[in-house]
Amino acid sequence: MPSSRLPSSPAPTSPVEPMTPANPAQPSDAQQLRGHHLRLGYDGADIVGDLCIDIPPGKITVLVGANACGKSTTLRALARLLKPRGGAVTLDGKAIHEMPSKQLATRIGILPQTPTAPEGITVADLVCRGRYPHQKWFRQWTDEDERVVAWALEATGTAEIAGRAVDELSGGQRQRVWIAMALAQETGILMLDEPTTYLDVHHQIDVLDLLVQLNREEGRTIAVVLHDLNLACRYAHHLIAMRKGEIIAQGEPSAIVNEELVEAVFGLKSKVIPDPVSQTPMVVPIGRHLRF
Ligand SMILES: Nc1ncnc2c1ncn2[C@@H]1O[C@H](COP(=O)(O)OP(=O)(O)OP(=O)(O)O)[C@@H](O)[C@H]1O
Ligand SMILES: [Mg+2]
Repeated sequence: MPSSRLPSSPAPTSPVEPMTPANPAQPSDAQQLRGHHLRLGYDGADIVGDLCIDIPPGKITVLVGANACGKSTTLRALARLLKPRGGAVTLDGKAIHEMPSKQLATRIGILPQTPTAPEGITVADLVCRGRYPHQKWFRQWTDEDERVVAWALEATGTAEIAGRAVDELSGGQRQRVWIAMALAQETGILMLDEPTTYLDVHHQIDVLDLLVQLNREEGRTIAVVLHDLNLACRYAHHLIAMRKGEIIAQGEPSAIVNEELVEAVFGLKSKVIPDPVSQTPMVVPIGRHLRF
């Protein structure tokens, strides 16, 4: 593995580096993931009626929206975990439902919102499973697999718990193990559904910084669902705001996030001011009560 992939925590040259690089590295191939007129649902009515969505290659896309608006449903369809009732998802122009599963798994990795681990599995074994798409019938496990797993554990701060059972971990530890597994898959497109839920604030920033590193240094395409609007504005090159199964705004956070949008998406009054650290929009909610 090239050393650039190894986790690094060098002293920053300035107190805070720009978090949304103007010129992220170009992806090695087009990595164009696109949903065309998607109609998505489960048993009853459609959740998503007619959604066209592009995940821009080589960028960090963040999806935001109220609970139950269809973010996870959309992400799952883009990763072929959910079959569309109508429309299609294409990767580089080819319908993903026609691609062999293992081939697709080398291109798109997804960390679902509520993944489930086999009972009793250890951290190391779970992360090793991320390498499955890379294994050949004639050669099961390679030094490269070993290196990538070690890197993924290190990058997520889970190396020291590698021998523990996943179901004995805290919520935040478990979340980082799942992120390690997704990283071990080494896909050009990485989708993560609320990866920072359960994480303390330090680990939230670590995970998002790691995504920036993967994007900048390797040109990986990242699509992530976040509930923290301020972190979404800091880390997204491209922000997609959803409401009731539709995209109601998308673009660079500074161009689209304002008090009207926050109210339209969340039904919440707020003040939007510049984040003093990143200068990106910072949403300060106005509740009904103050302590004083
Ligand atoms: N497996 C399922 N079976 C039936 N309905 C489902 C299923 N998963 C989700 N839904 C429904 O689809 C709608 C959209 O859910 P989805 O999980 O996409 O929302 P979300 O935007 O990710 O919300 P959250 O922020 O709470 O994660 C909800 O009404 C939900 O109840
Ligand atoms: Mg969800």
